[in-house]
Amino acid sequence: MQEHEFATRLVAWQRLHGRHDLPWQVSDPYRVWLSEIMLQQTQVSAVRAYYARFLARFPSLPDLAAAPVEEVLTLWSGLGYYSRARNLHRAACMVMDRFEGRFPAVREQIEQLPGVGRSTAAAVAVFAFSRREAILDGNVKRVLTRVFGIEGFPGERAVEQRLWSLAERLLPQEHEAMPAYTQGLMDLGATVCTRGRPACTVCPMVDACHAAQHGRTADLPTPRPRKIIPVRHTLMLMPVASGRVWLERRPSEGIWGGLLSLPEVADTTAAEDWVARHGGGDVLSDWPEVEHAFTHYRLVITPVPVRLAAPPVAPGSGAWLPLAEAPDAGVPAPVKKLLLRLAGAPPA
Ligand code: ADE
Repeated sequence: MQEHEFATRLVAWQRLHGRHDLPWQVSDPYRVWLSEIMLQQTQVSAVRAYYARFLARFPSLPDLAAAPVEEVLTLWSGLGYYSRARNLHRAACMVMDRFEGRFPAVREQIEQLPGVGRSTAAAVAVFAFSRREAILDGNVKRVLTRVFGIEGFPGERAVEQRLWSLAERLLPQEHEAMPAYTQGLMDLGATVCTRGRPACTVCPMVDACHAAQHGRTADLPTPRPRKIIPVRHTLMLMPVASGRVWLERRPSEGIWGGLLSLPEVADTTAAEDWVARHGGGDVLSDWPEVEHAFTHYRLVITPVPVRLAAPPVAPGSGAWLPLAEAPDAGVPAPVKKLLLRLAGAPPA
């Protein structure tokens, strides 16, 4: 599909299958702006009743500007994100003062109003004034990354800039088509090209959609990159003799400070040294690793069961506990997991 075909298809689809009964599908810029602010973080279904009540109390922009902000906040209560209501009131006052009560028709001017970003300003310019301006909200980003196979997290500057350029290239040439085109983008994102289960079979773009054609709707848009969490490895000895396990008191500083835990060593050589220093015994085959997630790193624990020839004489502080009691001795979570496993299947 050529880029210019996108708008043609979308407009035709919107006229047949898009939404035409939304209460803010009017040309009064005040109403359009109010609806776009309400719809920024709130679903259509929740907005409807608030929108109606708001307009019943403030039928025009001068009514809103003349009201005390507290009354605006009261009408907003339940919608959330209350800075939207404060900005709305400030913006209404600003239109009265700076634009003599006439809502600005140019996207750059609308964007100067508090609470209005580029995409919201563009939506108002399109719906109220049929301007040729591109919108780019979360739904539109999803549609464009899928149809055109745009990789990379859209919250990243470079990706977002690519999307803005694409969104501008895709606009229809004729001003008159702008409202249907823009509503079509919103409708497609909200009703067809949804996040979870897109309805590709009824999508007007399906044959030309990169994601649909390559089975990649679940991969696009690219999710926010996960922080890379470093991994630390450690070995934990599980010294057992006569139905008991040896636990050591950890130093008060550092992770798990002051808790009883299994003795830790760096590698298998250190494990063998430890056994030799504690009267000898057998290092048994390794158990499956256990992972534990901390805020700043992941700890991978290799458990090393050890059958000691004789119970160790405590070299530092510690306890020589019956296998059944050890898991409840206030040990760290992954150690508890190991001790439960040990109590269930002690080394022969
Ligand atoms: N979401 C944001 N703006 C919208 C609009 N004008 N109609 C439906 N949903 C929207």
